[in-house]
Amino acid sequence: MSVHGNARKVTTHTLQEMKRAGEKITMLTAYDYSLAKLVDRGGVDVILVGDSASNVMAGRDTTVPMSLDHMIYHAQCVERAVDRALIVVDMPFGSYQGNSAIALESAIRIMKESGGHAVKLEGGSEIVESIQRILTAGIPVMGHLGLTPQSIYKFGTYTVRAKEEEEAEKLIADAKLLEDAGCFAIVFEKIPAHLAKQVSESISIPTIGIGAGQDCDGQVLVLHDMLGITTDFSPRFLRRYLDLERQITGAVEQYCEDVRSGDFPNDEESY
Ligand code: KIV
Repeated sequence: MSVHGNARKVTTHTLQEMKRAGEKITMLTAYDYSLAKLVDRGGVDVILVGDSASNVMAGRDTTVPMSLDHMIYHAQCVERAVDRALIVVDMPFGSYQGNSAIALESAIRIMKESGGHAVKLEGGSEIVESIQRILTAGIPVMGHLGLTPQSIYKFGTYTVRAKEEEEAEKLIADAKLLEDAGCFAIVFEKIPAHLAKQVSESISIPTIGIGAGQDCDGQVLVLHDMLGITTDFSPRFLRRYLDLERQITGAVEQYCEDVRSGDFPNDEESY
């Protein structure tokens, strides 16, 4: 039987065994109770309470305004719904950069108040001190390299990262640094597939790709994008599994028509 099939509750240890066994890891975002329940029921291994909530839940242009209180609220909603998946919570911008004592305090709040199982931080050498300090408290850390949306104002665009040699070399060194620091996995966002393959093969911890090709140890997508709820975002890496925007607006139109015409509620729907 597969490592995945055996696991009742997914742990960081399960993911590392999956990498060793060559089994792909599945990860999706969720931010609320109802959808998290469906995602967990669908059998995903990791649920990321992503700070992409800033975009898809709050309608902001970037993830920068997300607060620690907001992340904890979303993680609490998800935690109540989940039986099996490992829950990873994004540490928001400003809650860990530059001061490892603040980073530890923020991570402890996430773990105590939300019930999440691990935290995710964006960046490499610049934040390794924060990662190390969080790990000393026994909190599992997932890294995030490549396109790191919290640094959008530094990058200026959401284009593919690490195409040039210098940036690719830094990413390779950062991945090794995060592995040595004790991260249990790393997200690679929007980097060339050959680079993601090379690094995935050279480190022992699982890599989870989003726009990083098929050779990462797992894949992640933003739930609202893959369900077709958000339609103004169509990067090449995104595969849409449903067209919920059309189906939901269609259902709402039908409901309005039924109420206006007097068709709803009918006798069977009345007391
Ligand atoms: O916030 C998020 O949804 C993420 C994924 C894109 C990996 O960090």
